[in-house]
Amino acid sequence: MTFQDDTQLELTDFSVETDVFRREVVAGLRGDQKTLPSKYLYDKRGSELFDAICEAKDYYPTRTEIGIMEENAEEMAEAIGPGTVVIEYGSGSSMKTPLLLEPLEAPSSYVPVDISREHLVEAAERISERFQDLPILPVCADFTRPFDLPEAMDSNAPRTAYFPGSTIGNFTPEQAQELLKNMYDETNGGRVLLGVDLKKDVAVLERAYDDSEGVTAAFNVNLLEHINRELDADFDLGAFEHRAVFNEAHSRIEMHLVSTMRQVVTIGGETFSFDKGETIHTENSHKYSPERFAELAGPAGWDVEQIWTDDKDYFSIQLLVAKK
Ligand code: AVJ
Repeated sequence: MTFQDDTQLELTDFSVETDVFRREVVAGLRGDQKTLPSKYLYDKRGSELFDAICEAKDYYPTRTEIGIMEENAEEMAEAIGPGTVVIEYGSGSSMKTPLLLEPLEAPSSYVPVDISREHLVEAAERISERFQDLPILPVCADFTRPFDLPEAMDSNAPRTAYFPGSTIGNFTPEQAQELLKNMYDETNGGRVLLGVDLKKDVAVLERAYDDSEGVTAAFNVNLLEHINRELDADFDLGAFEHRAVFNEAHSRIEMHLVSTMRQVVTIGGETFSFDKGETIHTENSHKYSPERFAELAGPAGWDVEQIWTDDKDYFSIQLLVAKK
């Protein structure tokens, strides 16, 4: 489905239906270890809180990645080549996008893809003001499932998937590989430029996901507020606490919401009991070594062509090119 909004940007809309949201939430809370899909952290408020996390001093990924972009974007653009469609997965506020679009030679169009519709449309408008001659073709979709690209996109142009922020880390290695395969299909075996956060000191990691300003905690708890609002639920927001721990065996930061008491929560008439101290696992953020990431990308059809990092080797931006 497509429609024109008042600024004439054509939005392709595959927003998540409420019953899909409900089904995924209920399934997650019925498990032995309760879980909730991290993509539902990003309602309007959640997207705003995430932007605030990016500014928090304890959260190193954003500023580190921006630094790498600023230093190397010319080289990245050169390696990508002229005339490409840029498909951005989980574009959010499209904050880093200009750093790539600016040095690119004659990009064909920009296709931001995000689950949060309002945020997506606002960001698309901002980009279209800045890059007046570039067709901007936003798609509201859950990019974890295959989706259709906009009809208005030049189907013959080369395609580059842009996937910054290390969002790839939110998926298990198996899911990440699946997503990289989808990207292979969606780019017609083109290129991927993506951010991959690297393994590092545990204290640095845990601080980044439990910042001293409490923004990450608010972001995590907002997931319950999102569910309360959309699914007629009654989570007591004061009765769940944020926790972030590094799971060494899986090389990932885990975010949990800890129930501070024994309690029962109702979601659209269904009840869920919590013991005191029981947790809902709300997000994973996997940290990779470059070797491990290359092992993951290979079977999905990709060679790692180039890797850019910062001085401390905290973060990497990697260019993947379809295997010959
Ligand atoms: C959006 C996936 C890159 O995992 O670092 C930040 C999300 N969660 N703080 C990350 C997040 C808590 C973030 N990504």
